[in-house]
Amino acid sequence: MNKMSIKDVELKGKRVLIRADFNVPIDRETGHVSDDTRITAALSTINYIVENRGRAILTSHLGRPKGEPDPKYSLRPVAKALEKLLGRNVAFVEDCVGEGPQRVVEAMQDGDVVLLENVRFHAEETRNDSQFARELASLADLHVNDAFGTAHRAHASNVGVAKFLQSVAGFLMEKEIEMLGKAVHDPDHPYVVILGGVKVSDKIGVITNLLEKADKILIGGAMMFTFLKAMGKSVGDSLAEEDKLELSRKIMESARSKGVELVLPVDTIIAQEICAGVEKKTVTVDDGIPEGWKGLDIGSETLKLFAGKLEGAKTVVWNGPMGVFEIEDFAAGTEKIATIIASLRDAATIVGGGDSVAAINKFNLANQVSHVSTGGGASLEMLEGKELPGISSISNKNFGKKNED
Ligand code: 3PG
Repeated sequence: MNKMSIKDVELKGKRVLIRADFNVPIDRETGHVSDDTRITAALSTINYIVENRGRAILTSHLGRPKGEPDPKYSLRPVAKALEKLLGRNVAFVEDCVGEGPQRVVEAMQDGDVVLLENVRFHAEETRNDSQFARELASLADLHVNDAFGTAHRAHASNVGVAKFLQSVAGFLMEKEIEMLGKAVHDPDHPYVVILGGVKVSDKIGVITNLLEKADKILIGGAMMFTFLKAMGKSVGDSLAEEDKLELSRKIMESARSKGVELVLPVDTIIAQEICAGVEKKTVTVDDGIPEGWKGLDIGSETLKLFAGKLEGAKTVVWNGPMGVFEIEDFAAGTEKIATIIASLRDAATIVGGGDSVAAINKFNLANQVSHVSTGGGASLEMLEGKELPGISSISNKNFGKKNED
């Protein structure tokens, strides 16, 4: 990585403004954080700062408030969860700029941790307002960007502050850049990509970019029906994007001309309704899906086919579930794919994108793959080959040297 890391800088006695992505689900009934994955992922950076006697000033957004304080989106529950996970006191400050935070920060001792209120309570945050960024920056001596999940946004607290403070990558950001960066720029081969989810249109950028890099692309999820329909198969009432049939044909043609194997399911599990306990059956793709029925998961022959294609892979990227895995009756395809990926010992296995991450967590396999990305939109844009503003703004390795010269 040519970006400066938290390991490259002196932390002792420094006020460190950390941009984390604590955009986590809050249980509205209990007011507690209901999934702390993103908080846990930030712990190593926070602990490192504390151990090295820096003063950790945490910032984040939560949800999409309308540029003004809204208790529904307060980070207070995150402070509580973080306190438990860190096993140390986390002071919560009810704003992120102004006198309140300034007073708290002035009183901080080495090794202290504070969490500032939601940066999106100020409309200037998402506008990447320079004055607001300057105010945030004035709280600190150094900026640590650990918010990979927000890296596709050019906002004040991740990007704007870098105009006023040296910005270095935290450990989470570093791992995300390394793992996803390798999958995009320097993958070991054979390289197999598994794509699922509902729409071809959501994944078109990823497909186009990875057609240049991957050896095989396996397609599951509802998006498979757009491809199958484009091939002239009957898909019944399955979700197929009528306006993407031509595009799907072009993708298949492009894969052929580039020598990339684009592998589509050979069977699917169908039902008349998307709910638990309904009658379901398996049909082959060649026989087609009757009217009134829809495909909701990949079938067992497809799983065998996909398992074979994954054998011997050295890099695997998985983005998007294979079926409606939230319902037990249609979860087998996604669960089996997760199990196969988790069993690949010689491959770098990378899971990115909200739903496939939820799936791998649901099946308790997250610790058996090389990397589970904390980014939804950010990991997708990275796989699309885009440059992310929240990464570009981090100082390059030669930053320190230039300053010394
Ligand atoms: C996410 O959850 O994808 C990030 O935290 C970004 O959130 P946003 O889409 O509201 O900018």
